[in-house]
Amino acid sequence: MYPTNTGSIRSTYKDAVLSIILVALVGIAKAQSGSLEGLTSTANVQKSEQSAEQSTEKAIAQYRQMLQEANPADLYVIKGESLWNSARGPKRRSLASCDLGLGPGVVKGAWAQMPRYFEDTQRVQDLESRILFCMQDIQGFNSVDLVAQDFNTPERLNISLLAVYVASESEGVPFNVPMSLPQEKEMYKIGKKLFFLRAGTHDFSCSTCHSETGRRIRLQDLPNLTTQDGAGGAYGSWPAYRISTGSIWTMQQRLSDCFRQQRFPKPIFASPATIALSVYMGFNANGSEASAPGLKR
Ligand code: HEC
Repeated sequence: MYPTNTGSIRSTYKDAVLSIILVALVGIAKAQSGSLEGLTSTANVQKSEQSAEQSTEKAIAQYRQMLQEANPADLYVIKGESLWNSARGPKRRSLASCDLGLGPGVVKGAWAQMPRYFEDTQRVQDLESRILFCMQDIQGFNSVDLVAQDFNTPERLNISLLAVYVASESEGVPFNVPMSLPQEKEMYKIGKKLFFLRAGTHDFSCSTCHSETGRRIRLQDLPNLTTQDGAGGAYGSWPAYRISTGSIWTMQQRLSDCFRQQRFPKPIFASPATIALSVYMGFNANGSEASAPGLKR
């Protein structure tokens, strides 16, 4: 993970080669899933749908494996680490003294114990809201301005890079999201309530799509986020590199897109509602190993 000059050149090259393979494989997978759309539902067709789906899955598993050695996210981790250590913002300071819950400057293993309650802000904070706080407190950035911006603006992209770096430093560490303080318990309760809240034009809740094991929409797995396995594998693998957008998405962005799928209004970045949902999913994941940065469709 730690860049040497030759290491990063090599991984850039590997990345380019893998991208080409990936585009080809995604093409094959798309052609296969595309050919399904015109078919009607006789037994034979179902069979061929199944086998096409299986081979698409195989292709996906294949490129996942190929990318395992060089997940494009690793390049973003390197960028994030360098941002973390750079003197930036109006105060020209680095984030090296940012307290992520395990003491100032401790990054290793910190994300596996987030979201958590922070004494200095008297709030339960998730990864992104804590980074945002440190950027304001230590570096002098205006957090209100940053919250109002879109995910794709330069400084908001920097938050995603910082998040992917911090999360990567917990890779393999079992989640241990704390739940001893009343503030943490309250946020869990709110998160759970939100998870099951049905509303909007389609009367959907998160649980409509995410509380059954083995459920899928088209070719996408829909993890059961109410179980340790489901939450561990899903929540625990974001921030992730998204192949379909060619960029790093954090959990905040994942949630924002699921609110859209749910036909709910767009949530405010780093708002208590989004943090509560992460407390719910993170606590459900406890005991599972953190695996971010993930690699997603
Ligand atoms: C209409 C169905 C739908 C609803 C409602 C929905 N989601 Fe999702 N969610 C999806 C789909 C589809 C994906 C996979 C997206 C992809 O692969 O592009 C997903 C992905 C996710 C993931 C990442 C899973 C993984 O394996 O990486 C998380 C976490 C998640 N959703 C949380 C939520 C939460 C929390 C809510 C409620 C605020 C919610 N979702 C509401 C459809 C939904």
